[in-house]
Amino acid sequence: MPTVLILGAASDMAVAIAKKYASKGFNVQLAARNPSRLQALQSDLNIRYNINCTLHEFDALNYESHQAFFDRLAPKPDQTICVFGYLGDNETARTNWSESAKIIHTNYTGAVSILNVVSNYYASQKSGIIVGISSVAGERGRQSNYLYGSAKAGFTAYLSGLRNRMFHENVHVASIQPGFVYTAMTANMKLPPLLTAKPEDVANTVFKAATKKKNTVYVKWFWRWIMLIIKSVPEFMFKKLKL
Ligand SMILES: NC(=O)c1ccc[n+]([C@@H]2O[C@H](COP(=O)([O-])OP(=O)(O)OC[C@H]3O[C@@H](n4cnc5c(N)ncnc54)[C@H](OP(=O)(O)O)[C@@H]3O)[C@@H](O)[C@H]2O)c1
Repeated sequence: MPTVLILGAASDMAVAIAKKYASKGFNVQLAARNPSRLQALQSDLNIRYNINCTLHEFDALNYESHQAFFDRLAPKPDQTICVFGYLGDNETARTNWSESAKIIHTNYTGAVSILNVVSNYYASQKSGIIVGISSVAGERGRQSNYLYGSAKAGFTAYLSGLRNRMFHENVHVASIQPGFVYTAMTANMKLPPLLTAKPEDVANTVFKAATKKKNTVYVKWFWRWIMLIIKSVPEFMFKKLKL
């Protein structure tokens, strides 16, 4: 039975991804801060899908722990899905370095730290699949969320480079670009229903990207075109917009 590791497993998206993989016969390793709160999900997956779901303590910001965290996993996962992230408050972050650092380090540094460990192992095995959840926010900086967006831009570029390196090691790396998704992260935002995906849509996209070895996938296809339009607005006009 194949095994999937889900990093940031308490999020709504991660729960949907865990259910999707369990329904396809994968054993699931749920990694999160305070993983004991995931016991109900663990039991549900074990009983409903007759798989082996295990819980693992993981903090993306505790870089020094990442190698030991991965070394302890038995079996090693066939696939690793990097879901964790932190939107933060852009306005607070402008004057508060610890908020800026938390946004940058959760979305970029922490992801790089753990995926370096995972990818080195997969390279040594000449097999494995990595899926990273980035964001369309990384495609052009906007005044409302450029700290989060710049960290996701870095993560998107990291995944692209990793995909290029890992291709030669028989390891696939997929980048997922969600637009808006209904989750705890966006619970206090008024989102346009037509443009907004559900966590289950993300889960289906992740599974398909991994299975069909897709490179970059937009959860809702039209976000690729929305971002193309946004990116094509000339800078002298873009800087005047309130986005
Ligand atoms: N929702 C959207 O519209 C949207 C759009 C584009 C991209 N995304 C991306 O999708 C991913 C999932 O987001 P979501 O919407 O499901 O948000 P969410 O509900 O806020 O989930 C974020 C998860 O990241 C975890 N996390 C944060 N810091 C962590 C750390 N230091 N170590 C380990 N885990 C940590 C949180 O853990 P705790 O439960 O312990 O706090 C939480 O479970 C994120 O990468 C996000 O940036 C979301």
